[in-house]
Amino acid sequence: MAGFFITVEGIEGSGKTTIAERLEAWLRSRGHTTFLAREPGGTAVGEALRKLILDARHPLCVESELLLIEAARAQLMDEVVLPRLDQGQTVILDRHIDSTTAYQGYGRGLDLDWIARLNHFATRGRRPDRTLLLDVDAAVGLSRARGRNLDVPYADRFETEERAFMERVRQGFLTLARQDPARVHAVDASRDVDAVWGEVREDIQNTLPN
Ligand SMILES: Nc1ncnc2c1ncn2[C@@H]1O[C@H](COP(=O)(O)OP(=O)(O)OP(=O)(O)O)[C@@H](O)[C@H]1O
Ligand SMILES: [Mg+2]
Repeated sequence: MAGFFITVEGIEGSGKTTIAERLEAWLRSRGHTTFLAREPGGTAVGEALRKLILDARHPLCVESELLLIEAARAQLMDEVVLPRLDQGQTVILDRHIDSTTAYQGYGRGLDLDWIARLNHFATRGRRPDRTLLLDVDAAVGLSRARGRNLDVPYADRFETEERAFMERVRQGFLTLARQDPARVHAVDASRDVDAVWGEVREDIQNTLPN
């Protein structure tokens, strides 16, 4: 029997980790054997690469960033995701291929065809069965991620740039959802957690086989 492969995507602070954890607990309560991992990460090599990718002390050109993310992904697919799916397990990833297209492609401007080919290479072409895109305004996501109020008295230049970048990423995600509506389901994540979770649960209930 083939497993089920779910990915949770969205900008910073959109609620991915919150929703992925609820989803895993709910699926377990329904008898699924589940595996949840974040990207980049989820394996020993992947977590080491994650530290390199996120460590702001060392310069990292955008091409290297893309290749390190894809290297971590290839390892995760090989070591964990593909074998578990083969065993019939339900795998949930907190970020996956669409984050790469949205951040490195739409956000940083790297070639979208290259990214699509690298995504295919790293995943061996195994696409998620369902993707939840948690869609939220860039300002809301960034303020949630920083755990502070939206009504700041001013935004400095870096913050304005960051918001513009995050807005491009958000639009990239929405473009992906429009291009692949059979896989990607966009959820309005500006609502409270229970409302978002309710829509996610219903969507997965309707897409799970049998
Ligand atoms: N729908 C929601 N409404 C309000 N707050 C939320 C909502 N969902 C999550 N949060 C809160 O916002 C913060 C960020 O949520 P979470 O960590 O789940 O987002 P994320 O998408 O995983 O972020 P990151 O990209 O930084 O990993 C947390 O403090 C969480 O409790
Ligand atoms: Mg998270």
